Amino acid sequence: MRLSGNLRSVPINSNSPNIVLRWRDALVPSLTPTAELIVGVAVVLGFVHFFVPAIYYEYAKTRWYRKAWTITIDESYQPRISVVIPTYNEREFIEGKLTNISEEDFPRNLLEVIVVDSASTDNTAALAEAWARDNPNLFVRVISESVRKGKLTALLSAFEALGPLSEVAIVTDVDVRFQKGTIRKAAKYFANSSVGIVTASLAYSSDVPAESIYRDYYNVLRVAESRKHSTPIHSGVFQAIRTRALRTVGVPVFPGSDDSAFASYMAFAGYRSIQVEDIAVKEPMRGSQFSTKLRRAQHVILNFLLTKKYARSKNVYRRTEFDTIWTIESWLVLVNPWILMAALLMVALSLLLGSGEVGIIPLVFGSALLLLKPYRAWMSQQLYLIMGLLRNLITAKEVWTK
Ligand code: GDD
Ligand code: MN
Repeated sequence: MRLSGNLRSVPINSNSPNIVLRWRDALVPSLTPTAELIVGVAVVLGFVHFFVPAIYYEYAKTRWYRKAWTITIDESYQPRISVVIPTYNEREFIEGKLTNISEEDFPRNLLEVIVVDSASTDNTAALAEAWARDNPNLFVRVISESVRKGKLTALLSAFEALGPLSEVAIVTDVDVRFQKGTIRKAAKYFANSSVGIVTASLAYSSDVPAESIYRDYYNVLRVAESRKHSTPIHSGVFQAIRTRALRTVGVPVFPGSDDSAFASYMAFAGYRSIQVEDIAVKEPMRGSQFSTKLRRAQHVILNFLLTKKYARSKNVYRRTEFDTIWTIESWLVLVNPWILMAALLMVALSLLLGSGEVGIIPLVFGSALLLLKPYRAWMSQQLYLIMGLLRNLITAKEVWTK
């Protein structure tokens, strides 16, 4: 508006092309460096986004992962084990799960199973009870809650019900199957009294090389952190927890507290929360992959937002080497995805400002990389972390009940 108004006020006989040129000189040179600067900053942010995790991975792999465990592992150690299976409408899986556990090579007199069902409407609890009657050589108890308050509430009542001599509670999802020897393999880590929680490594269904790159990134980092001290990210698919630790420090019970929060809390309390390599579980993806991954991202985010403060508020917090791991992982989960987001927004802005080629280059390069599967897996994980944080801010309701 102002531009055309000024131009119109120019006398007819003056040299108008020159004036137009002067206007362009005034506008374009001042815009281009700004756009270039924005693209420049975006590229720097992009580097930070990718290089910090890459450097951390390399460091953790060479310094921590390749070292031996600093905990003694006693293959002959046989503690009393309670397997805890939370269920909600799992008629398809419950019997197969119980059969799978009954096939474990672990002394029956050291094994109890607790199914904790939250008012399933599909007879899950009755199926579990019938299975127990038909298989008296495995000690199975079924706790039936009258209302569904979520997995966390269910686990808490199962923990209350652990046998008085229980030494390790193995919490496991109903839809995963153990490879033979899983319980025995988990048991040996508890010979060392500093070990609080043990989680399994993740096995993926396909052995496509690209997928194994991402799997290795995830698993190697988790195990490396565990060798150093503890890893703050665990999977509820399989978590073996020292019963004494449950009885002394307990688990965090804030809404949304889950597998990773259990692990981090125990690590803050001075226990080792580890992921091991000799136990791997393959989990079938059920239902919508999108909502499952989003919910997991929300749980991981809540862990990093709340667990350290929570541990302090409960007076269990002790400063250890875990704090360094926690700080880096907090950054990777809470900050790093937003750095990528900022970089993308800045490139978009520079295009709007008319930077043309300068903005297009990182855009084309970044999009071309999407052809690579591990890169795609990484980018989608970043998106889940971004959406997860936003969703936590808006509503955490679904996270609370599951
Ligand atoms: N008792 C009880 N009550 N059990 C429940 C409830 C509930 O309200 N909700 C879910 N469960 C049980 C399921 O029956 C299953 O055995 C287990 O909890 C996991 O449920 P899934 O439906 O398979 O959850 P997921 O695979 O999407 O979630 C995964 O990530 C979560 C972390 O965000 C699992 O590994 C979960 O264990 C983990 O908590
Ligand atoms: Mn599942």
